[in-house]
Amino acid sequence: MPDTRVDIVREFPDTRWGDDGPTRGVEAVLEDGNVLSFPQLPFALAEVECRFLDERWADGKAKNISLRWPGGELRGAAGTRRDLAELQALIARFAELSEAFALRLFPHYRGHLRRGNTSLRPTQVAGRVTSWRKDDTRLHVDAFPSNPMHGTRLLRVFCNVNTSGQPREWRVGEPFAAHARRYLPSITRPLPGSAWLMNALGITKRRRTEYDHVMLQLHDHAKADLEFQRSSPQARVDFAPGTTWVVYSDQVLHAAMAGQHMLEQTFYLDVEHLQRPETSPLRTLEHLLRRPLR
Ligand code: SIN
Ligand code: FE
Repeated sequence: MPDTRVDIVREFPDTRWGDDGPTRGVEAVLEDGNVLSFPQLPFALAEVECRFLDERWADGKAKNISLRWPGGELRGAAGTRRDLAELQALIARFAELSEAFALRLFPHYRGHLRRGNTSLRPTQVAGRVTSWRKDDTRLHVDAFPSNPMHGTRLLRVFCNVNTSGQPREWRVGEPFAAHARRYLPSITRPLPGSAWLMNALGITKRRRTEYDHVMLQLHDHAKADLEFQRSSPQARVDFAPGTTWVVYSDQVLHAAMAGQHMLEQTFYLDVEHLQRPETSPLRTLEHLLRRPLR
């Protein structure tokens, strides 16, 4: 039986996104590796917008429908020009609300939080067939092969917009430092010249630092380790429809087991703008390895 001592979900009573909600100044709760959950914070869809909660709007190439900022271009969707404009407006509204919300929750990040992509995830998570590396039903921290972060944090706001009562079923796992200690001994250094070469060939969008190398290895080691998946400390969390949750997905071990129809907003924050930079994966790894990961 998986250990159930993992207890990292903190619930808050907010019922509105705007500046008048009750919760603010909770940077430390997030930075400590908790999931902030708002079970009474739905994202309202107009009745005509509910038609967008359907896989048919996905263009079949991308996993998600998304908006790219700063321009807000819509990617991954197929439909008439009018449909797409409505879909774009819906997702952009979520971007605006979640940004206002994040700045209320985390006033320390004001002026530093950068908006990343916004996505609508229309496919059923359970039973999706992918390679083990892309299989997000396995516990992992987020790290991307082509997109080196250099330590920049990945803060994500999710909202379950399912209209048939289906929760987003997650598992969450052990604290980041424990996770790093588990796999660091089996992580090898990158091959000399490999970061330069991947950048030159366009495999990565910029140079992969050793931080990125270690984060990718953590991601891959965890997903490939079935014994870890089965028996490491973990807890199941169901996010009911109408729930919004906020998490540092580069820090919190997570897996999405089931659910359909979710909105997600990514934000980036550089480590020095955290309230406590020492809680970051970058500083944690540097502390454990006793050297800078550049
Ligand atoms: C993930 O970030 O691994 C997936 C989250 C989700 O789709 O619920
Ligand atoms: Fe993930």
